[in-house]
Amino acid sequence: MAIIINAPLDMHLHLRDTEMLNIVAPLSSHTFSGAIIMPNLVPPVSTKEELLAYKNRIHQACRSDIFTPYMTLFFKPTYTKDFLESIKDELTAIKLYPAGITTNSEGGVDGFSVEELAPTLNAMSELDIPLCVHGETNGFVMDREAEFVSIYEMLASNFPKLTIIMEHITTKESVEALDKFENLYATITLHHLLITLDDVAGGMLQPHLFCKPIAKRPEDREALRKVALSGHPKVMFGSDSAPHPQHAKEACGCAAGVFTAPIALQVLTELFMENSTLDKLEDFVSNNAQNIYKNITVPKKTIHLEKKPFIVPDKYGTVVPMYAGETLAYSITNIES
Ligand code: DOR
Ligand code: ZN
Repeated sequence: MAIIINAPLDMHLHLRDTEMLNIVAPLSSHTFSGAIIMPNLVPPVSTKEELLAYKNRIHQACRSDIFTPYMTLFFKPTYTKDFLESIKDELTAIKLYPAGITTNSEGGVDGFSVEELAPTLNAMSELDIPLCVHGETNGFVMDREAEFVSIYEMLASNFPKLTIIMEHITTKESVEALDKFENLYATITLHHLLITLDDVAGGMLQPHLFCKPIAKRPEDREALRKVALSGHPKVMFGSDSAPHPQHAKEACGCAAGVFTAPIALQVLTELFMENSTLDKLEDFVSNNAQNIYKNITVPKKTIHLEKKPFIVPDKYGTVVPMYAGETLAYSITNIES
């Protein structure tokens, strides 16, 4: 039986730059219609010139693929309404990182006060620019996301017209927050639907599954699966596919990030098939995102998959993907665009 996915979207993707960009960009642009591109380069994307130049480099790396990079800026509380207005047509969202919480986030927000954030967040509300948030405190690693829920609530209630996306949620507490505020939405990764902390550190340490936020408990994964598999309208697929070279992962001081871009649609298909929810897959990977992000246009692309073994390569360039060397049940057999 052929399975079809129309216009798949990855609403949280790291493409990096230079050689890494050239390795990983085609792996997303081939199979996705578009993706929200994270701005945590060194230095982070924070001016119009940097954003346009990065978008150009992405287009070049994607060669002739029909693919739209939805560009983001790295949040700064000093962005003015005039500046945002001047860049609005090129910009899909702004990504807020707490300072130092993950890869290349040192220039992020230090302390969350409404007064300090208000000028930029009010301008974003007025201009309908969504805010994407990496929601972790610097508390105990397993509690960081749950502790951040009160900050999400502060943001959602003080800026009710702002679209706020809780990125890569990993806990039942974040799932519960979704239904409390009209303007809160979420992305969920592939890996957080599949693994728990046991898979990362329960046996031999698995550096290729180490990411931020760290994978949590079985009951958290269950809560994530429930909303993803039911096609909950406030939840979108965002892979957080985050490539690092093999030497940076298999190292003392392992970099955080799981590289899933080339396997995402095959594994999502298997997960939704196994749970008899295939009719909800397109909501999760496309329709919900189009309803939430009202400012995107989505190029046509149709992905055909079949139940046919796909052997995951050991490496793409210098990057080891999730399930390297293993055989997946579903393969992409045709792409129309
Ligand atoms: O695991 C992660 N890797 N989490 C993030 O938030 C950032 C990402 C990266 O850029 O490597
Ligand atoms: Zn990310």
